[in-house]
Amino acid sequence: MTLEAYHTLHKTPVPGGHLYVKPGARGLADPAYELLARCLEPWGETALDLNPGIGLVTHALRQSGLVTQAIETSRAALRCLTASFGDSIRLTRGLPWETEPASTDLVALVLPANRGTRYVELSLLGAAQALRSGGRLWIAGSKDKGFERYFRLAQELLGYGQLVRREGALRVAVLEKEKPAPERPAPWQSFTCEVQGQTLHFACLPGVFSGGHLDQGSAMLLRALPDQPGHVLDIGGGYGALSRPLVGRARSLTLLEDDWPSVLSARHNLGQEATVLHSDVDEALTPGQTFNTIVSNPPFHVGGLVVLETAIAFVEAAYARLERGGKFYLVANRFLPYEPLLEARFATVRTLAVDSHKVLLAHKLD
Ligand SMILES: C[S@@+](CC[C@H](N)C(=O)[O-])C[C@H]1O[C@@H](n2cnc3c(N)ncnc32)[C@H](O)[C@@H]1O
Repeated sequence: MTLEAYHTLHKTPVPGGHLYVKPGARGLADPAYELLARCLEPWGETALDLNPGIGLVTHALRQSGLVTQAIETSRAALRCLTASFGDSIRLTRGLPWETEPASTDLVALVLPANRGTRYVELSLLGAAQALRSGGRLWIAGSKDKGFERYFRLAQELLGYGQLVRREGALRVAVLEKEKPAPERPAPWQSFTCEVQGQTLHFACLPGVFSGGHLDQGSAMLLRALPDQPGHVLDIGGGYGALSRPLVGRARSLTLLEDDWPSVLSARHNLGQEATVLHSDVDEALTPGQTFNTIVSNPPFHVGGLVVLETAIAFVEAAYARLERGGKFYLVANRFLPYEPLLEARFATVRTLAVDSHKVLLAHKLD
């Protein structure tokens, strides 16, 4: 897939209308979204979608006549939601736990189980906080990804709840808010790690990749980088694990990240030392912007589903954004077939290290 094709939005039909979708955006052909969109029953006048993705559930809420708000973290999904809904919903880039207290009659939440327990707990707290007394929370998820446990937690936070649908491993439940929302705990987590003899302090929000410890693959990549990498681009930079150790060594640092909690974490960890952009791959860069060195530990999960399209777009963007003579350092799980992708683009591709992961170096000569 070309980079242009990756960034292009497509119109797709959904019951009662259409939505804009694109590769790398969460919530397309995801059965939990489809089931919740089918099961939802309107309640009151206003609704909040706390995990909209491309907006299948948001669309169902609007179709049922509710004044709808959506809070989304992913830049790719925000692009789709903006194109699909325009001004017809209130769309916010934000954190699912930073909701306006007692502001809505209904909250819909596809449980973001792939983002870890703490992220789901805080999302449920955000839902409890946003609901007016007597309001309803609809949740959907898989019994294989903690649905029962999250349903129990939701009942502790809100009150009475009922399972309304089972389909295979999927479950949908509705709860009524009977209790005042509890205080929200501080979301930030701090940790320290040793990187090549340096002690580095990090803080991160829930749901970020490898929050709380340096990923083994990222540590391998850091060991392979040159002392003076020049102008560096970090694609899918997370909380800043790869960029932070390059402060003082790189001439400049630019980090691109699709996920808003990760962007906030990276900004916290890098301060003025880097430009951190909320970006779906390289979409936030200006057209001619190029770099000497690009580093990446690409994702291979989108909303819990294994999707290589985004990783392929990372490779394409790395090629497009390197100046002649530039180098792309990539770390990946050993089973992922990056070599043919890199070889199709770059003049030379070398394996620098193989252990828990593999580190590849692709050189752009032309
Ligand atoms: C494997 S993690 C690596 C994070 C960080 N570089 C590290 O080494 O800890 C991949 C990162 O890519 C981000 N990501 C996923 N899709 C993206 C996209 N379309 N554009 C930019 N970043 C994306 C994820 O949010 C995640 O932070």
